[in-house]
Amino acid sequence: MLEGITGRSRRQRSRGCPRPSLAWTGAFISRTGKVGSLPCHACSRILARVNKTPRYDPTAIRELFDEMASTYGLVNLIASFGFAVRWRHQAIKQISAALRGGRRVVDLMSGMNELSHSISQYSDCSLRVTAIDFSPEMLRRARTNFPFPVKTHLEDIFTWGFAPGAADIVVSSFGLKTFDRNQQALLAERIATLLCPGGTFSLVEISVPPARLLRLFYLFYLNHVVPWIGRLFLGNPTNYRMLGIYTREFGNCCYFAECLRQQGLQVTEVSYFLGCATGVTGSKPDIRRTA
Ligand SMILES: C[S@@+](CC[C@H](N)C(=O)[O-])C[C@H]1O[C@@H](n2cnc3c(N)ncnc32)[C@H](O)[C@@H]1O
Repeated sequence: MLEGITGRSRRQRSRGCPRPSLAWTGAFISRTGKVGSLPCHACSRILARVNKTPRYDPTAIRELFDEMASTYGLVNLIASFGFAVRWRHQAIKQISAALRGGRRVVDLMSGMNELSHSISQYSDCSLRVTAIDFSPEMLRRARTNFPFPVKTHLEDIFTWGFAPGAADIVVSSFGLKTFDRNQQALLAERIATLLCPGGTFSLVEISVPPARLLRLFYLFYLNHVVPWIGRLFLGNPTNYRMLGIYTREFGNCCYFAECLRQQGLQVTEVSYFLGCATGVTGSKPDIRRTA
């Protein structure tokens, strides 16, 4: 079922389809996230890929971020009006006390190490960050000049082999939305294993705000304006449109919070800017201390 048709006029569509005009290719999006087929050969190839690949398939996600890597930083900053940076800072501020004093921090879905920038605002130089991401292109662009060592690893977080209890702190920003519910449950299990007793965590993700009017505006912005901003900076708008679809399907951190609780973690849910982003923060109980 088609949910809506947007984008170029019929006159514009008949002109052929150079790469930038791919913006409108995401215009036909079904409830299952399928995108309608189009006459242009180049567009059809992309749409075939989007439609054929299971949406939460790791290979598809990695390709998406590999393709977006060259424009992601700038588009993310501009399209979010700087809120993305603010939300990262706020997520780290939640655990700022824990960050002091030689801690082992693991940044999951670290991208270009954006979160390490926030960590550097709230910590001394005695901590060590291990950054995990599976997109070679994101990691190739990752900044590493921080006051503390940041070691990046090209790994899928679901297959990455780590020692249980290897982290005092687990953090993550904007990496949850491309996981379905099973993957979120698995991630919660991995975080619980990765954290040492008494360890803390804070994760944040773009979310769908609960207030109806704001939600309508926000989804319109994500689905239609952000892809155009992506295009403006020479990115592939179809990829940016996919991020909107992932966000809509993700909703908010509520389900993930429940998964973490089921793993025995103490969880507080956090809402940032009227729910445009949500997060989870908390700790792993130290049974030895409470016994
Ligand atoms: C939206 S970016 C967020 C990057 C960064 N944390 C930030 O704050 O902007 C999501 C990142 O998650 C990574 N990612 C998604 N699934 C992953 C997985 N299963 N294992 C490792 N990294 C993953 C992608 O490669 C991408 O770099």
